[in-house]
Amino acid sequence: MPLYQKISVDSNSVILIWKIAESFNNLFRAVVLKDNSLARLEGMKSESHQKGFLAVRMLLQEAGYTDFDLYYDEFGKPHLKDNKNISISHSYDFSVVMLSDKNIGIDLELRRDLIKKIARKFAAEAFVYECENNSAEFISKLTVVWGIKEAVFKVRNEVGISFKDHIFTKPFEINHSKTTALLDFIDTKQEFMVHFAEIENYTLVWLWEMNS
Ligand SMILES: CC(C)(COP(=O)(O)OP(=O)(O)OC[C@H]1O[C@@H](n2cnc3c(N)ncnc32)[C@H](O)[C@@H]1OP(=O)(O)O)[C@@H](O)C(=O)NCCC(=O)NCCS
Repeated sequence: MPLYQKISVDSNSVILIWKIAESFNNLFRAVVLKDNSLARLEGMKSESHQKGFLAVRMLLQEAGYTDFDLYYDEFGKPHLKDNKNISISHSYDFSVVMLSDKNIGIDLELRRDLIKKIARKFAAEAFVYECENNSAEFISKLTVVWGIKEAVFKVRNEVGISFKDHIFTKPFEINHSKTTALLDFIDTKQEFMVHFAEIENYTLVWLWEMNS
């Protein structure tokens, strides 16, 4: 499938979404990879992961970049050579990238029952309690919170950040599709504007650091 969706967030920020319907071979033939990307691809254990990786390169091409424009720092955070900010996520059938002049983070998660089991590891007790009393939205809300924490982590990208103790989400309603979040870590408080959407059985969260 070609590009699944493009979300124009503002004049300098865009989200590109690829729904992976192609075979590995078709994706592989459609992209040009540098040597260390080829080595990374060969080292991946599952074909699903490989296709997610290749679909990210399809999205880069869609945005006018190639794999040669992308590099990673020692923490695994992706960067573009022209200094535009990039954030990447992939989950089963979809790959997404966000490009912006702001400090951005994006996360895509499949909504699953499993999240209930780990809720207390990453979300505040009061929030989990509130969600438990509204079972229709329990999984949806928890998946948003999880996505926010992953996306905030992708912005700050620092060892020692605890999802539960350092990243806080403002109460929100699923149908409002936005909220704010705070990262309070080592003497620095960073505030984030958060947006989210449900795409098929997946939850997409994107955010940017306010004042960035
Ligand atoms: C880095 C992390 C956020 C990736 O999230 P994920 O849900 O596993 O995977 P996603 O598909 O959403 O994102 C993967 C992409 O994130 C990007 N990424 C990896 N490390 C990153 C980092 N340190 N900073 C920013 N982006 C990073 C990469 O682009 C990667 O894809 P690619 O290597 O194919 O280009 C996650 O693995 C992580 O380490 N989280 C923090 C650990 C933690 O505290 N866990 C929860 C405790 S309750």
